[in-house]
Amino acid sequence: SEAELGDYDHFMQKEIFEQPTSLKNGMRGRFSDDASTAVFGGLNLSPQELRQVDRILFLACGTAWHSCLVAEYLIERFARIPVEVEYASEFRYRNSPLDKNTLVIAISQSGETIDTLGALREAKRKGYRTLAINNSVGSTIARESDGGIYQHAGPEIGVASTKAFTSQIMICAMLALYLGRLRDLSYGDGIEIVKALQKVPEQVEEILKQDAKIAEIAKKYAKYEDCLFLGRQLMFPIALEGALKLKEISYIHAEGYPAAEMKHGPIALICEECPSVFLAASGEIFQKSLANVQEVKARKGKVIFVASEECDIPEGLADDTIIVPECHEIVQPILMCIPIQLFSYYVALERGCDVDKPRNLAKSVTVE
Ligand code: G6P
Repeated sequence: SEAELGDYDHFMQKEIFEQPTSLKNGMRGRFSDDASTAVFGGLNLSPQELRQVDRILFLACGTAWHSCLVAEYLIERFARIPVEVEYASEFRYRNSPLDKNTLVIAISQSGETIDTLGALREAKRKGYRTLAINNSVGSTIARESDGGIYQHAGPEIGVASTKAFTSQIMICAMLALYLGRLRDLSYGDGIEIVKALQKVPEQVEEILKQDAKIAEIAKKYAKYEDCLFLGRQLMFPIALEGALKLKEISYIHAEGYPAAEMKHGPIALICEECPSVFLAASGEIFQKSLANVQEVKARKGKVIFVASEECDIPEGLADDTIIVPECHEIVQPILMCIPIQLFSYYVALERGCDVDKPRNLAKSVTVE
């Protein structure tokens, strides 16, 4: 209803702008008193049991599956536990061998997706410990898993997930921190990560102030029928999510790729009519990525940079640039995600699409 929308035009827009709050809510009460690690009330697994986990398998669908890919990177990086990610719908029929010390984690915004529920049940049937990360208290997936973490992002109405996605990444970053602190991650590193996480809501607020600028940029690109999203390492899942957002609500054909993979195929698509969104996080990998961007430019492809502020973008490489504040690596995926949400939203509006109710899609899919 209009009342629920308040000053906003669409639920997607409202939910994008709610992210400083939804992210804060996901962190509330979840750091140790000395602010060096995360604490979760509902894992139902002791630190001792968690130290014995030697592999984690994540299961999900859609946007939540992209959260799993971020989790894979963060948990391997900060907790040094091998992680695998599987589409829930594939896992169920695949009969993959799992070790008894494997922990299975399902991520689902609704907690009702039948593919994810089916996979969770299959994992339980085989005797694995299961956790759920989900946004709806008392959902079927929450009830049927052995333990879990609620996102507390608040109800998400827009079919294209926005605040639920960033909230899932936030939870996964906190989980990586917690698991890391049960193993090798130092006290000092823990303190630094908590600080970085606590700063996220205000940094998201800063990015949201670029709303009008991003709308202008989006207008320029709304006429194209193809678009690539490129990113490396932690930015790869965000590239996938950017492509998913754009195709879901604007019906533009979009693909996400790790930038270095371009030369193995997708570069064939590059021409004046196929722009690329480049997700440039800081770090040494940024320099390597520039060569990939040059390949796009050389083929007359337009390039939109979504770049961390410390990235030094050489003259003439970017057609448009959206800057994201400098931050700790662990929160980069959250911050970089905000501009691509706004970009997709405004592209879809420009094309006259119904952003809250895209064709053929449902918020929660309860059939197989
Ligand atoms: C549907 C929605 C997607 C969502 C996916 C998984 O396809 O349209 O936005 O990512 O289901 O939903 P879940 O509730 O399990 O996260």
